Amino acid sequence: MLIPVLLAGGVGSRLWPLSRQSRPKQFLALAGTSDRSLLEQTLGRVRQLDDLGPALIVGNDEHRFVMAEQLRSSGIDGRVMIEPVGRNTAPAVAAAAFEICARHGGDAELLVLPTDHAIGDAAAFADAITRARANADRGRLTLFGVTPDRAETGYGYIQAGSVLADGVRTVQRFVEKPDAERAAEYLAHGDYFWNSGMFLFGAQDYLDALAEQAPDIHAAAAAAHAAARTDIDFLRLDADAFAASPADSIDYAVMEGTDRAVMVELDAAWNDLGSWSAVARAAGRDARGNSARGDVWLEDSDDCVVHSQGRLVATLGVRDHVIVETADAVLVADRSREQDIKTLVQRLAVEG
Ligand code: GDD
Ligand code: MG
Repeated sequence: MLIPVLLAGGVGSRLWPLSRQSRPKQFLALAGTSDRSLLEQTLGRVRQLDDLGPALIVGNDEHRFVMAEQLRSSGIDGRVMIEPVGRNTAPAVAAAAFEICARHGGDAELLVLPTDHAIGDAAAFADAITRARANADRGRLTLFGVTPDRAETGYGYIQAGSVLADGVRTVQRFVEKPDAERAAEYLAHGDYFWNSGMFLFGAQDYLDALAEQAPDIHAAAAAAHAAARTDIDFLRLDADAFAASPADSIDYAVMEGTDRAVMVELDAAWNDLGSWSAVARAAGRDARGNSARGDVWLEDSDDCVVHSQGRLVATLGVRDHVIVETADAVLVADRSREQDIKTLVQRLAVEG
């Protein structure tokens, strides 16, 4: 049985001020890419998969009702698991794996899905999952690799080894978020793929790999799940036990160190909507490289990303800018600094 585990606890701060603490990007429809939220789109892709068990959405308390509502309206059977505090993805997936082991047994397969992606070709996505399941021998942790087309530093890189089956390869190594120089090397090398951030593995197989590589996370997630309680339909992890977990991503905590990984190639027009440029790529640009949404007037402007939620935004003679207008905040940034929006938002929260 395949249990989709949807990770919905991220902050999405690089898409500020559209993506906010109160409503991060996964719960929003990003104009131009779809009229459904990223979480709803992810649920829509799940629906077409075979042998589907009940989905588990993992996220934080503040968003429990929006998660429950979007799950309900998707028509997919499932439940919301609440993290009392964010500890990044390794503990979130661990708590999900304990829950799935308890309900469905250790052989149940987890399909871990981020909720910040656009996938243009849903059929190719489903094919990749089918291929992964057909090749998922005991103990294997499956990654989904995307052919890179630029030296992106915001992703993990998979060096693929020998071919195990059509579109399935061994993993020589995994490097999470390399610096620009190494990312350029990997791009030139040819055998490297981007990690799409989706994973498939047996519930017990993940827990075994985690126990080996990050025993503190394993222990904290076990205790938080053992003391979890049901509140209405929500499953609440125990606050003290979960807070004791180190914060780390599945990529650093497990995937970089494991020798159990295999990679399935994913050719599905995949796009991580992690930055304003990525949103522009998914939404499309005009002949001058601009991507504009809402009430926007561009004059003699090039390579800009401009979003207006309400008021008219006009630009004149600017290039390489990100301009985002919302009811209570406006961002004007140089596009070369778009990764730093995250830090800006942190500073605003502390000092602003
Ligand atoms: N439940 C929960 N709890 N979800 C979380 C948490 C958490 O503490 N932190 C992040 N998430 C969710 C995010 O909402 C997103 O859907 C997903 O987990 C991935 O987290 P990101 O923070 O977006 O990761 P990333 O984009 O920097 O890196 C990952 O994805 C890349 C591709 O998009 C890595 O897997 C990279 O290796 C990969 O290339
Ligand atoms: Mg992401």
